[in-house]
Amino acid sequence: MADFDTVVKTRRSVRQYLPTPVPRDVMTKVLDAAQHAPSNCNTQPWQVHILSDEAKDTFSRLITAAYDAGVDTKDFSFAVADYDATYKARARAQGAAYYQALGIPRDDTDRRQDGLRRNLSFFGAPHVALLFAPSVGDNVRVAADIGMYAQTFLLSLVANGLSGVPQTMLGSYAEQARTLLGLPPEMKLLFGISFGYPDTEHPAARYNIGRIPLSHSIVHHSAL
Ligand SMILES: Cc1cc2nc3c(=O)[nH]c(=O)nc-3n(C[C@H](O)[C@H](O)[C@H](O)COP(=O)(O)O)c2cc1C
Repeated sequence: MADFDTVVKTRRSVRQYLPTPVPRDVMTKVLDAAQHAPSNCNTQPWQVHILSDEAKDTFSRLITAAYDAGVDTKDFSFAVADYDATYKARARAQGAAYYQALGIPRDDTDRRQDGLRRNLSFFGAPHVALLFAPSVGDNVRVAADIGMYAQTFLLSLVANGLSGVPQTMLGSYAEQARTLLGLPPEMKLLFGISFGYPDTEHPAARYNIGRIPLSHSIVHHSAL
């Protein structure tokens, strides 16, 4: 078992997978660890729907059709344009690193579209987990709990030789997901996580985006 620092620092959002399914006992082990995530008052509001095989392919077909028709049914807004310049610059750098890994030049908008569309087939992953939560108040606290769950799940994947990629883009198809899974409208879709065995030879599974220095994020106070 890898040590904690190695698990945390080698985790990355892998965007190319092998088709090999994750054995059920390994998946259960990963999910069992993720279930230990903390949550407000231990409410554990996550409802996780894992799609494999035909179910995953059906969802992919539905959301690809919706994307091509310009349909968007997200429960929660997300637009990089809403962020301040500092954050926009980081988002731009992430996009640039991804397209560079795929060998797509800056001005090739068609191939960039293809790069974006890879989200809709889960980057070749054999499984996708859709993370829902009940709507509660302004949903911020519930969303924080889902974030806690998601990171625990992602680290648990890495500790078991797997990888995952969180995908807000899948949250754009909340209605399609609810209809397919027979869920009521009060169950809100935060995002999805595609997961499986990484295709370690593929550049989209290898690049490392890095982080800002600690001093940009952390302020210590010892006496005020
Ligand atoms: C909540 C959340 C949603 C994300 N949505 C997407 C997405 O829709 N598509 C994608 O390719 N990456 C997505 N990412 C991955 C981020 O781009 C990635 O975490 C970030 O660039 C840092 O890279 P790393 O995860 O490899 O360390 C998402 C990450 C998080 C935490």
